[in-house]
Amino acid sequence: MAAIPHGVAAVLSPLKGRDFLSSSDFTSQQTIALLELATQLKKGERRIDLGNRVLGLIFTKASTRTRVSFQVAIARLGGQTVDLNPTVTQLGRGEPLEDTARVLSRFCDSLAVRTFDQEELVNYAKWASIPVINALTDLEHPCQALADFLTLQEALGTLEGHTLAYVGDGNNVAHSLMICGALLGVNVRIGSPVGFEPLPEVVAKARELSVAGAKIELSNDPYETVRGANAVYTDVWASMGQEEEQDVRQESFKHFCLDKKLFTEASPNAIVLHCLPAHRGEEISAEVMESASSRIFEQAENRLHVQQALLAALLGGL
Ligand code: CP
Ligand code: NVA
Repeated sequence: MAAIPHGVAAVLSPLKGRDFLSSSDFTSQQTIALLELATQLKKGERRIDLGNRVLGLIFTKASTRTRVSFQVAIARLGGQTVDLNPTVTQLGRGEPLEDTARVLSRFCDSLAVRTFDQEELVNYAKWASIPVINALTDLEHPCQALADFLTLQEALGTLEGHTLAYVGDGNNVAHSLMICGALLGVNVRIGSPVGFEPLPEVVAKARELSVAGAKIELSNDPYETVRGANAVYTDVWASMGQEEEQDVRQESFKHFCLDKKLFTEASPNAIVLHCLPAHRGEEISAEVMESASSRIFEQAENRLHVQQALLAALLGGL
């Protein structure tokens, strides 16, 4: 991996007060430095006390990992969360976002927002005067991608020049993997059924941001996608909000299950990743999920460490 020229704190200090709406919001060096800080926090080599900062959680979709890892991350930094679930705030009764965002900016120090439309998130960032973090939208899941590449780095020792293969829907998770992978010099292959490819503008953005010759490649053949890869990743076939498409998608994706036969195509020491929650027997077999190659639960744990690093950077605690 490329060396960080001036140390983690110097590289991350420009992030103070910034939003994190897309994996493309940070530079390659900043993304590398965030993973380095996450590693230091995880190993206990670094302790950061932000002094009772408050993170507001606005989640319009269900969450286990993202919600709890943000709660624990800010607690470990000496702060706390407030739950601003729209069903219990005036947001649910139609209070405009621009009023809500300005009011919450006077109580909280940062907001983590999980919603459907990326435009809604961008609007929160526009009206809030505090850092706004993408806790998943239909377009991207950038906090997840940070955890994913930290897990890959732990397994391989380095990132640059390695290949991550993602089989399944060209969704929010695939989008952030392509962009974040490109910034870290990782080749990212996305294998999806016809009609379920990632958005062309996101593919173009990832290719534009690519460093160290990292290739972003698409295929409609799961075997071609996985061949020789260092990590094989999958996600649900129907994301939150697409539940009514489940049956149709099950038919379209039936050749894209990450089972032992498909995984055998990967490099001999390849690891298995999944952002969770998983549907065993659909996008991944129980055998692969529970195999010795799986790093899925390390990956889930890493959500905590990368988000702690992210909060410390955005809130200026370095
Ligand atoms: N991977 C992930 O974002 O999980 P949650 O939906 O449980 O937050
Ligand atoms: N693509 C999935 C990810 C869940 C963490 C979804 O959006 O539901």
